[in-house]
Amino acid sequence: MKERIEKLLADVEAFKAEKIEEVEQLRIKILGKKGELNELFASFKEVANDQKKEVGQLLNQLKVKTQERIVELSSSFAQKEEKGDNFLDLSLPISDDNLGSRHPLSIVKNEIIDIFSRIGYSISEGPEIEDDWHNFSALNFPKEHPARDMQDTFFIDKEHALRTHTSSVQVRVMENSTPPIRTISPGRVFRNEAISARAHCIFHQVEGLYIDKNVSFADLKQTLLYFAKEMFGEKTEIRLRPSYFPFTEPSAEVDVSCNICSGKGCNVCKHTGFLEILGCGMVDPNVLENCGIDSKVYTGFAFGMGVERIAMLKYQINDLRMFFENDIRFLNQFKSTI
Ligand code: PHE
Repeated sequence: MKERIEKLLADVEAFKAEKIEEVEQLRIKILGKKGELNELFASFKEVANDQKKEVGQLLNQLKVKTQERIVELSSSFAQKEEKGDNFLDLSLPISDDNLGSRHPLSIVKNEIIDIFSRIGYSISEGPEIEDDWHNFSALNFPKEHPARDMQDTFFIDKEHALRTHTSSVQVRVMENSTPPIRTISPGRVFRNEAISARAHCIFHQVEGLYIDKNVSFADLKQTLLYFAKEMFGEKTEIRLRPSYFPFTEPSAEVDVSCNICSGKGCNVCKHTGFLEILGCGMVDPNVLENCGIDSKVYTGFAFGMGVERIAMLKYQINDLRMFFENDIRFLNQFKSTI
């Protein structure tokens, strides 16, 4: 009898079920009215007195073990049912509900690149750690000149800094090619500024450069008008205000008509009807000469814009820090084909 109980105990322990019905069968087989346990209890009186204690304990053990195993198996079946067919089926293909989306800055950057490549601009890139020559000196910033303070710089050593604009890439392009040059330089730039809703110490620029014979300010204006209409819509107007940059002469700042109030005046454009989007100008002859281009033969224009600023206007985002937080709820709102 002892062996029989031990055999049953081992069977219960190893018992596996494919269907819930099999668990019920186990219950009937062991715990049922005519089950093993009752049968064993019935023949318990035949057990020799000196073995009664041990056999009794084994019988109890069989009862408890069987009950536990049944509860265990039934609850795992219940869970399977609750979670449906997905229950731990690792072979299922992943669902595409959670596909990521492109970052809004990438979407806007790609759009800017797309707009300029349609009129023949190539893309050029350069290093983020720049030497003094490419970031400042070649661009007509005299040494120790306060104009260098316009862009609070992160210096690495006396000669190197994190680039404060991608104009440095344009210097490299001019040094290494002969006009005509038509290129845009997208990239990350760094300025030692306090982080706020309107400024960050890291941001993104796209700067453009066009050098050829007879390039005029009218060409610059027309190019920027084309860009503004492509970016913000056919009805967009632009406005140029005189400004100063060491590397362009004359220089201007460009505003676009506010796409929120269509120029009527609102909070975003501070009731002026216009929003500033970029800086531009005719490349200073000194810069052309610094880069080995004959300024008596060639003229050119340059412009530079902040990608964050364009994205804020395009999507009406009022805090620049949102771009850097990578909050999924924010990022999920941007879907794009480019
Ligand atoms: N490099 C300037 C800036 O970062 C932008 C600019 C580029 C202005 C080209 C004029 C011409 O602010």
